[in-house]
Amino acid sequence: MALFVTFEGIEGSGKSTHLRLLADHLRAAGHPVVETREPGGTAAGAAIRRLLLGTDAPPLSPLSELLLYCADRTEHVSIVIRPALAAGQVVLSDRFSESTIAYQSYGRGLDLTVVRTLDAHARAGLVPHLTFLLDCPASEGLRRIAGRHASSEPGGAAPKGAAPLPLDRFERETLAFHERVRDGFRTLAAAEPTRFCVIDASAPVETIRARIAAEADRRLAKAA
Ligand code: TMP
Repeated sequence: MALFVTFEGIEGSGKSTHLRLLADHLRAAGHPVVETREPGGTAAGAAIRRLLLGTDAPPLSPLSELLLYCADRTEHVSIVIRPALAAGQVVLSDRFSESTIAYQSYGRGLDLTVVRTLDAHARAGLVPHLTFLLDCPASEGLRRIAGRHASSEPGGAAPKGAAPLPLDRFERETLAFHERVRDGFRTLAAAEPTRFCVIDASAPVETIRARIAAEADRRLAKAA
């Protein structure tokens, strides 16, 4: 049963963890699942991701940033997402169009009409069937990110004794930037309450996992 599901949220909201947990749940129920992400879901996308978020990423103007995210999406939609949906698979994408609107328009301040127009070209008419917004205060997301980057801390991503992982261009942004991004996501979700499922990302992992699994099961049953 083809279903296109996206996960959105600020840094440290836990969306990548919950995408993986949903993939496990759906596979256990016998659904073919494709896990993918933006940027970086294709070979060109991986190069674009390094340019945007790699350790030696160069400074970029907000417009160049927008164009790169849209180039990544153009490839991702045509090479990965559409073929998988045509083959009847469930596609789970870590970020999609709402990230562009929230980060490049609400965050960076680019004109909303310009951002929406370029995104519309990139996704070429594709709209997710279901979007989970993992929502938590920006301060909480940033606290989790800081923990992940601290070397040899319990739960930190860097192995014991290793140098801390450098922060990327968005992780280095101010709390005010991340608050604007969060506000963008919440505004987008409020405008499309049928497609969006807003999840309190401060809740325990198991509570969130069960809520997401139940909602995906409900949508799959409806689509069948
Ligand atoms: P992540 O894969 O770890 O979530 O990192 C992706 C980063 O790129 C994250 O900071 C959000 C940002 N981003 C945008 O600014 N615009 C976009 O369109 C997308 C897909 C991501």
